[in-house]
Amino acid sequence: MTSLLTRPSSIRSTFAGAVPLRIGVIGYGYWGPNLARNIASHAGTELAAIADLSPKRLAGARAAHPGAWLTADVRELLADPEIDAVVVATPPETHHDLVVRALESGKHVLVEKPLATTIADAEEMVDLARRCGRTLSVDHTFLFTGAVRRMKRYFEAGEVGDVYYYDSTRINLGLFQHQTNVIWDLAPHDISIMLHLIDDPVRSVSAVGARHVDANVENIAYLTLQFEGPMLAHFHVNWLAPTKVRRTIIGGSKKMLVYDDGEASEKLKVYDSGAKLCATDEDIYRTLVEYRTGDVLAPRLEKAEALAVEVAHFENVVRGLEAPLSGGELGLKVVRIIEAAQRSLLSGGHPVEVAA
Ligand SMILES: NC(=O)c1ccc[n+]([C@@H]2O[C@H](COP(=O)([O-])OP(=O)(O)OC[C@H]3O[C@@H](n4cnc5c(N)ncnc54)[C@H](O)[C@@H]3O)[C@@H](O)[C@H]2O)c1
Repeated sequence: MTSLLTRPSSIRSTFAGAVPLRIGVIGYGYWGPNLARNIASHAGTELAAIADLSPKRLAGARAAHPGAWLTADVRELLADPEIDAVVVATPPETHHDLVVRALESGKHVLVEKPLATTIADAEEMVDLARRCGRTLSVDHTFLFTGAVRRMKRYFEAGEVGDVYYYDSTRINLGLFQHQTNVIWDLAPHDISIMLHLIDDPVRSVSAVGARHVDANVENIAYLTLQFEGPMLAHFHVNWLAPTKVRRTIIGGSKKMLVYDDGEASEKLKVYDSGAKLCATDEDIYRTLVEYRTGDVLAPRLEKAEALAVEVAHFENVVRGLEAPLSGGELGLKVVRIIEAAQRSLLSGGHPVEVAA
């Protein structure tokens, strides 16, 4: 018996109405505690159990969540019929195995980004969730921030116009991973935000990167995405930068957006700026570039913690009250783009078509 605490003996038939959704967290390393804290503090969910292979991590979990039962053996958690859903916050290379086992045990799943480390694995997970009739959500946390939610409203209202380009920088010092490179670690954040806002099909990806610290793992990379239309996207991800920058510029025909997550306030600025060619009065064969530099607006943003919003949303998706904002299909699209970027990286930067 590997449980460190006895399980509560109360028998529950199923969650319904006011009964909280009982969630088990698998993986209590760096990110798992943030999910556990938000699950424990949300009224509609209950942090029922935590599984981690490390006794040290379990000791930390016991101190923070004395009411949850703990185990080093994930099979115990998955076998518990009183657990409705699991959160998988383990390293990416373990996601496929754990999620498949969770779905086959009848659990709803919220899994960390990236959904999987290959397209084949991600497709299998999405297909299995569909066949099991269970929710499969991916923690693309930034979709639940006040800034991205506000940007989504601008896009839905047609206020940005045609998107010309999407340019993002996500750089900082660390946290170095050993199994996955900086693309797999950081780019899912920006690619998921872009796909959430602008769901245009990506045609191809070119990526270059370099290894300066660990001989096997790229710590810096530049990705360029080509679309069917004229839009262009670029992502700069880097674990070896002296300062933390999380900045995205989106150029639209009507408005331009600057999203700077590093700003304490005014994270989002909306510029009424643009440019167009116009003929001069004197000479119809000459054209001039006319610039538009109108107002700059910093909209008020909701301040709720992104993970708190996401946990509440996950509960509603499981209960069938909301459509998933970040379901398995979005996770699969992200993996398709990242895998194409990885292949491009290995080919020296040649454009690689994104799997349909
Ligand atoms: N959404 C975000 O903003 C965000 C931020 C950081 C990390 N993440 C993601 O979270 C995931 C975990 O990252 P991390 O930095 O917390 O990693 P980590 O290495 O700090 O923690 C992972 C934990 O999982 C445990 N674990 C591994 N295999 C297990 C198994 N089979 N059963 C039980 N426990 C197991 C390990 O013992 C460890 O404590 C990754 O997918 C990462 O991409 C997301």
